[in-house]
Amino acid sequence: MPDTPRDLVARINRLRRERRAVILAHNYQLGEVQDVADFTGDSLDLSRKAAATDAEVIVFCGVHFMAETAKILSPRKTVLLPDPASGCPMADMIDGPALRKLKTEHPGAAVVCYVNSSAEVKAECDVCCTSANADKVVASIPADREVLFVPDKFLGGHVQRKLGRPMTLWPGFCPTHARILPEHVERRRREHPGAVVLAHPECRAEVSAMADAVLSTSGMLRFARESEARVFIVATEVGLLHRLQLDSPAKTFVAATEQAVCPNMKRNTLEKVLWALEELRTPIEVPEDVRARAETSLQRMLDVR
Ligand code: 13P
Ligand code: SF4
Repeated sequence: MPDTPRDLVARINRLRRERRAVILAHNYQLGEVQDVADFTGDSLDLSRKAAATDAEVIVFCGVHFMAETAKILSPRKTVLLPDPASGCPMADMIDGPALRKLKTEHPGAAVVCYVNSSAEVKAECDVCCTSANADKVVASIPADREVLFVPDKFLGGHVQRKLGRPMTLWPGFCPTHARILPEHVERRRREHPGAVVLAHPECRAEVSAMADAVLSTSGMLRFARESEARVFIVATEVGLLHRLQLDSPAKTFVAATEQAVCPNMKRNTLEKVLWALEELRTPIEVPEDVRARAETSLQRMLDVR
C-alpha cells in the first residue's frame, strides 16, 4: 500500500533527526511541504537561516538559485535540492558572459543583482538584494555612481520609482508574476469592494501601481497580520495563500488570479523531501572561486541594514 502523507511525514521526521538536517521551505512551496519544514520564509529570511543554522544537512525546498545561495553561504554543509530540475526562468535570463559584456559597456557602474540569479552572476556583481531589501541595498550605493540592476526589470523599476534614482535595468522578468494583469485586480476589486491589494514587486508596473502595498512574500505576511483590514487581494504566486491563511485565519485572502502558479516551485513534494533525506540527493555544488566571490556579494547584502 502506498504511504499516506502521515507516514511520509513520520519518516521525514525520523530521518531529519538522524541526519541532523534542517528543512527550509520558501513561501511558494506546496502547502504540505511548507508544513513539514523547520522554517518557511522569503528569500531573505531563508538566506539568513541558511547562514546561521548549525545543522549538518540543509534540505532546501525552493528553486535552484535558493539552494545554491544556501551552499554559497554554508559551503561545509550538505545542501540538498529535492527536485534538481526546479529552476527559475528569470534567473536564467542572464548569465556570466552577458553580465560581463554589460559591465564593459558601463565601466565604473555598480552592479546590483537580485538573488534570483546564478552563482556565476552573483560572483560578477557588487552586491545582491532580495525583494525585501532591494531599496535599502540600492540606497547604500553612493548617489553619484551609476547602477546596473539585473535581472528583474520589474523589481528594478519598482526600486527606481521608490528612490527616484534612474538605473540601467536588464530586461528579465518572472513569467509567473507577468501573468497577473491589471484586469485581474480590477475584477477582484469589483467582487470584494474595499479589499486591500498586496502586490509583489516582480509584478508588472501597472499591477504594482494599483496596489495598496508592494511587498516581499514575508512582508505580505507581516502586513496582513498587523492590518485592521479583513479581505486582501494577493498579487503574487498562489502558494503564499496557504501561509497567509494559516497565519491570519480570521481574514480572507483572494488570489488576484489562480493562474499565477510557478511550476518550478511546485516540483518539490513530500516524497521527494523523503528521498532527499534517505539518499542525500541532490547535493548542490559551486566551484570554490565562483562561490567565494558570490559570497562577498551576498555578505554585503546581509550587512546592509
Ligand atoms: P520573496 O519570497 O523573497 O519575496 O521572493 C519571491 C520569489 O520570486 C522567489 O522566487
Ligand atoms: Fe522564478 Fe518567478 Fe518562480 Fe520565483 S515565482 S522562482 S521568480 S519563476
